[in-house]
Amino acid sequence: MSLTFTLDPAVDPALRDGILDLWADVTNAGGSVGFVPPVTRDDIRPELVKHMVAMAEGRTRLLVGHDEAGRVAATAFLTLNTHRLMRHWLWLYTVMVHPRHQGRGYGRDLLDAAADAARTVDGIEAIRLTCRGGLGLERFYASCGYKEVGRVPGAIRVAPGDDRDDIIMLAPLT
Ligand SMILES: CC(C)(COP(=O)(O)OP(=O)(O)OC[C@H]1O[C@@H](n2cnc3c(N)ncnc32)[C@H](O)[C@@H]1OP(=O)(O)O)[C@@H](O)C(=O)NCCC(=O)NCCS
Repeated sequence: MSLTFTLDPAVDPALRDGILDLWADVTNAGGSVGFVPPVTRDDIRPELVKHMVAMAEGRTRLLVGHDEAGRVAATAFLTLNTHRLMRHWLWLYTVMVHPRHQGRGYGRDLLDAAADAARTVDGIEAIRLTCRGGLGLERFYASCGYKEVGRVPGAIRVAPGDDRDDIIMLAPLT
């Protein structure tokens, strides 16, 4: 089994709802993609709309992975910088694999596909992202060629008394 990745898919209602379900299921299973559980599709929708506005403006590109049953199983959003001095790297946001598919190498496949996608963008030399500390995610990214280049202690308050580091990871594109 493997996922089929598509860059810049046409966003129809099925894809939009598939992403909302994925994002909610990942969050409710404890994933760190901008929310804390419990969440519903409606909680997530405004964040997806922000990505979609950036896509419409040509600043963000969607990479989506479908499973063999045709379900949305993974996503990552690649976002270009608007700052004129930072146009040689891009951001990767909302990296997630559906809980039913985690632990089978699909996350690494997703980041490989994201690197391939970034290489198609003129002038892009690196991918930067942030992740929440305390979950071992930096080990996942390190296994995909990313290096920790910074850490802001306690910047993410997931709950009162539970502050997590905001870890900055960088992967040069070779
Ligand atoms: C993080 C995530 C994308 C990884 O995808 P995955 O398909 O489960 O990961 P893979 O099976 O490709 O694992 C690749 C390697 O990373 C390791 N790994 C995966 N998740 C890990 C984690 N949370 N902590 C530590 N290591 C992890 C695996 O053990 C594997 O290492 P190995 O080859 O030495 O065995 C996925 O678990 C996920 O969507 N999590 C919830 C959302 C989330 O937190 N996203 C990160 C946003 S910053």
